[in-house]
Amino acid sequence: MDEPLLSLRTFVEGIADELRTVEGAHWDLELGAIAELCYRQKRPPALLFDRIGDYPQGMRVLTGSTGSARRLARTLRLGDDLDDASVVAALRGKPSQWAAAAKDFPVQEVSTAPFLQNVVEKDDVDLLAFPVPRWHGGDGGRFIGTGCLVVTSDPETGVPNGGCYRMQVQNEGRSTTIAAVPGKHGAQNIARWFAKEGRAPVTVSFGHDPLLLVLGGTEVPGGISELDYAGAVLGERVPVFRSPENGLPIPAASEIAVEGWLYPDRRCVEGPFGEWTGYFAGSPRPNLDMEITRLYHRDDPILLGAPPGKPPHDYSYMRTMMKSAMIHDELVSMGVPGVTAAWAHEPGGGRLFVVVSVDQRYAGHSRQVGHLAANTPAAAYMNRYVVVVDDDIDVSDLGQVVWAMSTRTDPAVDIDVVGRTWGSKLDPMLPPDTPPYNSRAIIDACIPYERKDTFPRVAQSDPAYLREVLGRWGHVLED
Ligand SMILES: Cc1cc2nc3c(=O)[nH]c(=O)nc-3n(C[C@H](O)[C@H](O)[C@H](O)COP(=O)(O)O)c2cc1C
Repeated sequence: MDEPLLSLRTFVEGIADELRTVEGAHWDLELGAIAELCYRQKRPPALLFDRIGDYPQGMRVLTGSTGSARRLARTLRLGDDLDDASVVAALRGKPSQWAAAAKDFPVQEVSTAPFLQNVVEKDDVDLLAFPVPRWHGGDGGRFIGTGCLVVTSDPETGVPNGGCYRMQVQNEGRSTTIAAVPGKHGAQNIARWFAKEGRAPVTVSFGHDPLLLVLGGTEVPGGISELDYAGAVLGERVPVFRSPENGLPIPAASEIAVEGWLYPDRRCVEGPFGEWTGYFAGSPRPNLDMEITRLYHRDDPILLGAPPGKPPHDYSYMRTMMKSAMIHDELVSMGVPGVTAAWAHEPGGGRLFVVVSVDQRYAGHSRQVGHLAANTPAAAYMNRYVVVVDDDIDVSDLGQVVWAMSTRTDPAVDIDVVGRTWGSKLDPMLPPDTPPYNSRAIIDACIPYERKDTFPRVAQSDPAYLREVLGRWGHVLED
C-alpha cells in the first residue's frame, strides 16, 4: 500500500540528513533525558528511538520533529532552505490564507488505512503495548499524548476540531486522560456534548506527519477543522478513515489511533507533567478519562513525541516561529498601521514574552500596538509581557530588546498592567486554588513619539559609512 498523505514514515525519510537513530534507550526517563540533552544542542537533530528497553525492535518514538528551520519549513511545505528569520517571513500571511482556503480542501473519506493492520477491541486495549515514555522524573505517569491530534466536534455544526493536549496513560494501559484547558476549542466542544448528550465522542492519532502536531498545537481559528486546514497547507485533501464507533475522522496515515467517548464523571487523577513553562504543573487532580472502544495501529508503529519542559524543549522552536508570524498577521489584519515585526521568544515558551516593533506614526500608536498584541487571539492565552520597540530594533535579538527597554523607557509611565486576563493552571505563579487569571505588562520601549526628532542620536556610525569602511578594512576584521 502506498503511504497515505501525512505519513510520519514519509516525513522521517525526508529528513534523513537531520535525523539520528538511537538504539537501546529505556522508556523510563532515559529516552526523555536524551531528547532533553539534544534540544540544548546548537543544531539539534530529530531522534528516532528504536529497540527501546522492554520493547521489541520496530516499536519506535520520534522526538524533535520540528526543531530546526529546515524541518519546520518542510513540515509547513514552505521549502527546503530557509533559516530562522526567513521561516517567519515565509510564514507571514500564510495562516490567514490557509484558514480562508480550508473550505476548498474538505477531508477525503477512505475505506482503508494502514492502521487497520491491527484492530484491538475494547477489552484488549493496552496502550502500554507501545513504548510510551515517562519523559521527566517529576511526571505523574507515562504520557502517550504529546505530539497527538485529539479530534472532537461541535455538536451543533458537526465541524471537527483537532487539538494537541497532554494525555497520561491510565488504568494500566486501558485508558488515557485528556487534559484540554477550559477555553480551548476542544474543551468547549466536549463541554457542549456533555450538555447535549451526556457524553462526548473523540478520536486521537498518536503518530502522523508533524504538520498535524503544529496545527493541533497552534491556535487555528474556531469553526475550521484542522484537517481541512492541513489540506490547505498541502494543497491536497487529507485522507481520513471515519471511526465506526462515533463517526469522527482519523487521519488515514495515523500510526496509532484510538476512538471512544468522554463522560463528565469518568475521571482519573492526572499529572503533574513537566510543562512548557519550564516547571512541573498541574498538581495531581481528576481529569477526563477516555473510554477507548477500539485501538488501531500499524505494524512497527512510530509514536510522535513532543515533550515540553524548561525551554528549549521539543516544540518551543516551532511555537516561536508560528506565533511570531501569527501575532504579526493578526495585528496587520486588524488594520493597525506600521507594525514591522513580532517575535514570541523561545525562553517564554512562545507565549509569555512577545516583542513587537512599530514604525510610530502618531501619539499613542505604540501603546495601541502593545495592548492589542497582548490580547490578540494568537497571544491571549498565557501572555505575560509585551515589549513594543521602534523599528530600528531587531525583535528577535534579546540584547537589542533589553537595550531598548533600558534606554527608552521610564518605568513610572511606560509599563501598563492589565489584570484578570487569560491565564492557566500551568502558571507557576498562580497561587493554589485560585481561578486561572493572570496579569500582563505592556512595556512601551519606544522613543516617546513627541521626542522622535529630538531624542539623543544612537551612538553608532552611519550604515553607509560602515559599509564603505568595511570595504577598505574588512581584512583586519576577519575571524
Ligand atoms: C505538544 C503540545 C502539547 C500541548 N498540551 C496541551 C494540553 O495539555 N492542554 C491544552 O489545553 N493545550 C495544550 N497544548 C496547546 C494546544 O494544543 C493549543 O492551544 C491548541 O491551539 C488548542 O487547540 P484548540 O483551541 O483547537 O482546542 C499543547 C500543544 C502542544 C504542541
